[in-house]
Amino acid sequence: MESIVITTKTELETRKLAEKLALSLRPGDVLTLEGDLGAGKTTFTKGLGAGLGVRRTINSPTFTIVKEYQGEIPLYHMDVYRLEDSEEDIGFDEYFNGDGITVIEWAHFIADYLPEKRLDIEIRLIDEQEREITFSPKGHHFEAVCKELAR
Ligand SMILES: Nc1ncnc2c1ncn2[C@@H]1O[C@H](COP(=O)(O)OP(=O)(O)OP(=O)(O)O)[C@@H](O)[C@H]1O
Ligand SMILES: [Mg+2]
Repeated sequence: MESIVITTKTELETRKLAEKLALSLRPGDVLTLEGDLGAGKTTFTKGLGAGLGVRRTINSPTFTIVKEYQGEIPLYHMDVYRLEDSEEDIGFDEYFNGDGITVIEWAHFIADYLPEKRLDIEIRLIDEQEREITFSPKGHHFEAVCKELAR
């Protein structure tokens, strides 16, 4: 399946889009988030959290690598920017095979550890408010998730 591209014009639109996406996710799903500094990766994750029923405020986990949030489905929020090329394995599989949904900012830094089946998301900064978000599903489940999102 081709990628799908959705443009958002405000932070709120990005959050709502992520919230909608969250509704078709299931335990064990892995999502990657790429995009420049300030593109909106953490903002997108906040929307995912809202959709999963996370009540705590989601912040950037830059200094902790991974933060776990309880929701209807747990959310594992990773920011692996700090692991840049270190090839450090902090037990990623425990998360990927766990009961939660894992979302990884700067996932290409741990490319070797990523599962084959996942949803790759890239956020491109168009201008101050506008973002172009590309969803590239790997595997049937995520193709279905993307079809639902595009409806
Ligand atoms: N359409 C939009 N979608 C998402 N964020 C937007 C949008 N328009 C403006 N913004 C702003 O862009 C910023 C995105 O910051 P955010 O922390 O989510 O980026 P990030 O990709 O996680 O950055 P970092 O690489 O530092 O982790 C926020 O200040 C947000 O308010
Ligand atoms: Mg961030």
